Amino acid sequence: MAQTHFGYQTVDEAEKARRVRGVFDSVASRYDVMNDLLSMGMHRAWKAYTVAVANVKPGDRVLDIAGGTGDLARAFARKVGASGTVVHTDINEAMLRTGRDRLLDEGLVLPTTTCDAEHLPFADASFDLVTVAFGLRNMTHKDGALREMGRVLREGGRLMVLEFSKVAAPLAKPYDWYSFNVMPKIGRFVAGDEESYRYLAESIRMHPDQQTLKSMMKEAGFGHVDVHNMSAGVVALHVGIKC
Ligand SMILES: C[S@@+](CC[C@H](N)C(=O)[O-])C[C@H]1O[C@@H](n2cnc3c(N)ncnc32)[C@H](O)[C@@H]1O
Repeated sequence: MAQTHFGYQTVDEAEKARRVRGVFDSVASRYDVMNDLLSMGMHRAWKAYTVAVANVKPGDRVLDIAGGTGDLARAFARKVGASGTVVHTDINEAMLRTGRDRLLDEGLVLPTTTCDAEHLPFADASFDLVTVAFGLRNMTHKDGALREMGRVLREGGRLMVLEFSKVAAPLAKPYDWYSFNVMPKIGRFVAGDEESYRYLAESIRMHPDQQTLKSMMKEAGFGHVDVHNMSAGVVALHVGIKC
């Protein structure tokens, strides 16, 4: 079987999928509180910016991939209204259930399905917008997943990839210190899971930087790709147009 990376370790592809599932099974119930703690609330601003750039309209069809506990799906659902659709998906049942329960508690009933971004169960050209926030990093065949996202978009539709990226050089050392010393400890004390948060830090370092991801999106069929750096490159939003 082909080899790939799980954080800094080289593992079989099947082992990576199993371990990624293990990470999100483990963190699902504490995911939202950990997100707020580790990012010091900044993930809310990164997502709000993504929603603002998306500028979806009533009636739009949106697919949120790796949607987890549903932050983006919830924001889009309010904007597309009753005439639009937001499909909330994730490969991990524990994350998706946590998200679905949260959305139901807020009075939102969205079509929800477990699916692997690398094999999407949707017809060609079904959506105006596809989003994936902090999910691409965990996928084994990122190029295949990007092609699938393109396949389900209509011509002229947009893919928005919000993901950790390459931080500006002056911040690299303090960011590394925080990532490898503080994040796993917060993981241990709050979520009872140090390893998953070490994986988080490692997987961020292994993820393609801004320019590499832009090239990958172009190769996957997105004729135009814009990159929006946020928080000095801690996070980047890539917006690709299928054209
Ligand atoms: C860090 S969470 C992000 C959740 C949410 N999008 C957010 O921004 O808060 C990453 C999610 O990616 C999902 N994921 C990992 N591999 C996937 C795949 N191949 N297809 C779909 N989702 C995947 C995980 O199950 C997890 O819920």
